[in-house]
Amino acid sequence: MTAQLFSTDKLLNLDPQKLPQHVAVIMDGNGRWAKQRGLPRIEGHRRGANILKEILTNCKDWGINTLTAYAFSTENWGRPLTEVSFLMTLFEKLLIKELKEMNEEGVRIRFIGDLSPLPESLQQEIAHSMAITKNNNAVNFNVAINYGSRLEIVKACQAIAEKVSTGELAPDTIDENTISQYLYTSASPDPDLLIRTSGEMRLSNFLLWQLAYTEMYITDTLWPDFNCSEFRAALAHYQKRDRRFGKVKGS
Ligand code: FPP
Repeated sequence: MTAQLFSTDKLLNLDPQKLPQHVAVIMDGNGRWAKQRGLPRIEGHRRGANILKEILTNCKDWGINTLTAYAFSTENWGRPLTEVSFLMTLFEKLLIKELKEMNEEGVRIRFIGDLSPLPESLQQEIAHSMAITKNNNAVNFNVAINYGSRLEIVKACQAIAEKVSTGELAPDTIDENTISQYLYTSASPDPDLLIRTSGEMRLSNFLLWQLAYTEMYITDTLWPDFNCSEFRAALAHYQKRDRRFGKVKGS
């Protein structure tokens, strides 16, 4: 990571007491950003990865405990082979390049998703990075790769059914917490804020269970342009929201 990353950036007009604890991001618009500039799509992804580092830095500096980023969905395998290969190589190269500094900065990295179809060498880097950073607590960084929320829920149901069939779990003790514990995200609280860039109004199979009461911020800005002040604007919107979790205020 370059020197300006992990530097202290200002919160400016934001209330430090009312920051979200967990921010999730759908990083959309890399391809369009590149196309607008006559560049190959992969340049959008490269720039998008730099932006993600900056946002992680902001989270750490501002005391936002967890950042979860949607890097590759179960549907993204349908992209051209060259783009898929580029992304797999990018993930691996970034992990190798950034791990030392992320570790020094106290980042705890976790990968969520079905990692088994990923290239073997990427799987090894993933396992290594999770093991090296497992005692860190400055900021939690969850990266969703080959992630699909419906598949996550199906796998949770299968694991719970297995426990029921062996008698380890009684069906009437299964509640919402049980389901949450069997999801990839069991270590994190549900996101307080979801940011989606590039103006698309959909969840794209991301954290369907976990986003039940999450505030959503959708901006037309393309992900490679989502800089620190764009992030501050999202947080300012969040701070104006009245979170009632389905209740009436004051009740
Ligand atoms: C969506 O834009 C972006 C992706 C599918 C890839 C996101 C990956 C990164 C930003 C790299 C992150 C790196 C790490 C290490 C986690 P799009 O290609 O769908 O854009 P478009 O909608 O304009 O075509």
